[in-house]
Amino acid sequence: MPFNIKSCVEYARKGLRSTLYWAPGGYRAERFWKRRHLRYKFDMRGVGNCGLTHAENVDDYRRATEVFLEHCQLHNVDFKRARMLDIGCGTGHYADVFRQAGGIRYVGIDITDALFADLRQRHPDFAFRKLDVTQDPVDGIYDLVIMIDVTQHITDEKRFAKTLQHVKACMAPQGLFIVTSWLDESARRSFYEVSRSMDAYRREFPEGQFSQPVRYRDKYLFAIQRPETPHDRA
Ligand SMILES: C[S@@+](CC[C@H](N)C(=O)[O-])C[C@H]1O[C@@H](n2cnc3c(N)ncnc32)[C@H](O)[C@@H]1O
Repeated sequence: MPFNIKSCVEYARKGLRSTLYWAPGGYRAERFWKRRHLRYKFDMRGVGNCGLTHAENVDDYRRATEVFLEHCQLHNVDFKRARMLDIGCGTGHYADVFRQAGGIRYVGIDITDALFADLRQRHPDFAFRKLDVTQDPVDGIYDLVIMIDVTQHITDEKRFAKTLQHVKACMAPQGLFIVTSWLDESARRSFYEVSRSMDAYRREFPEGQFSQPVRYRDKYLFAIQRPETPHDRA
């Protein structure tokens, strides 16, 4: 970045933000996301790329949704029957997608409930629960668990491992976990973002069947299927 007033202001802003949200072993995620959601509400810059306009983000999400639905189709997801868990549901974009695809059993969880009042109005028959997935297990068993644009915001490795344990614990036998990632350890690093390779996911999910990653926005999307175990059949 060239050295000028704009770059100095940007540098100072970044420093201030990382100080404001600093916490041992990561960042103050609830505080950060609450402020961000209250600032942007349903403007897609809040969950998408804040360097783009709302309209550009909407366009980006439209293309990304096609990728998501194609991947679900590839894995024969039956939306009408699936129990879906949306971890880091944000503005409820995937609650809308799920409903439009015929889904009726949906639980959205998020570290902040800043948007829940509106989401509950829009989807009175869906459940929205406030939960930090890096700390607390999730109630219930699900056929489809999604974490879209969320794992990169879990910056601490122990919390990342705990999160995937929580995901595994709530997956039905042969359930599907759809997740996105840059899949390149050097792609991004800031106080609230981290990039991981596929190995990081494989380490935490050694028994999972991984799909071939496909491009999703500026990242990749892939699925991990939980195999049925003798314990499930007993
Ligand atoms: C980039 S947004 C993505 C939102 C949505 N999945 C989408 O694709 O539009 C990340 C979301 O994850 C939530 N989040 C971040 N850390 C979380 C955590 N530890 N537990 C639960 N939700 C979390 C944030 O509040 C935010 O809504």
